[in-house]
Amino acid sequence: MDFSNRDFLKLLDYSKEEILELLRLSHKFKKMKKEGQSHRYLVGKNVVLLFEKDSTRTRCAFEVGAKDLGMGVTYLGPTGSQMGKKESIKDTARVLARMYDGIEYRGFDQEVVEELAKYSSVPVWNGLTNEFHPTQMLADIMTMQENFDEIKGRKLTFFGDARNNVGNSLMVVCAKLGINFTCCAPKELFPNKELVETCKNIASENGSTITLTEDATEGAKGADVIYTDVWVSMGEDPSIWETRIKQLSPYQVNSKVMSLANKDAIFLHCLPSFHDTNTKIGKEIYDRFGIKEMEVTDEVFESKASKVMDEAENRLHTIKTIMYVTLK
Ligand code: CP
Repeated sequence: MDFSNRDFLKLLDYSKEEILELLRLSHKFKKMKKEGQSHRYLVGKNVVLLFEKDSTRTRCAFEVGAKDLGMGVTYLGPTGSQMGKKESIKDTARVLARMYDGIEYRGFDQEVVEELAKYSSVPVWNGLTNEFHPTQMLADIMTMQENFDEIKGRKLTFFGDARNNVGNSLMVVCAKLGINFTCCAPKELFPNKELVETCKNIASENGSTITLTEDATEGAKGADVIYTDVWVSMGEDPSIWETRIKQLSPYQVNSKVMSLANKDAIFLHCLPSFHDTNTKIGKEIYDRFGIKEMEVTDEVFESKASKVMDEAENRLHTIKTIMYVTLK
């Protein structure tokens, strides 16, 4: 399978077979890392990481992944480049492509990463836009594979604002891989109708289903994977917290939700998570609304079923794979 010089912008652009191959290689890279086997396959190459939003996991995975592969890395943070202020996306793409072998972008509209890719002669990787978070999906499915012999036919339920990048991308990757996807949220936070239709068609080709429900019990029952994300995403106006807490409190992942899921069900979260008050925002929310836990309770987050730290680690192995296959 040849991935050379391809962009990685959204999983809709990749076939089921290609996604499975990326996952296969990710497991291989994880094993090599654990065994201390050197894999400096891309010595002499350089990548640039363009972040218009903050990040811990994605940035670190790209940096460590690139260094493990023997590459040089430049990080450009939200105030670290001319892009958007004094320089167009088109010009930024053309300039960076003259110096680097690959460009990672995290920011706002999907259109931006698509435009970067259009004008860049080197691969562009989407490190999160408002619409999609494709690198996260590979880590999520890799974590599922580590916990279940077969992922096809499993039920993954996403609790929360399903219109965002994680909800959208989970629906896409589940449809592609034959996983039954359930979105569990109030109607107004259901994903975009057009994307739902696209995913339903893909899912039916792969023998799975896409279900949208407002009923938390229906969402949790028989699930193999319970997934949630923060109630207010990066870039959203903080004034939305009050509304979102009212909308999503009935969809909090707690011990009742986990007890309705299958016995061997796992809990996943892309992170960061508000499961206690040990963060600035967590404290502010507690002071304003009196709640100590939001999208997931601390009990579930810290439970045996929670695989969130494996999932976070798997960002490294999957992102390394994407850089490797597109640059080798
Ligand atoms: N899940 C995720 O993308 O984490 P970061 O925002 O820390 O990169």
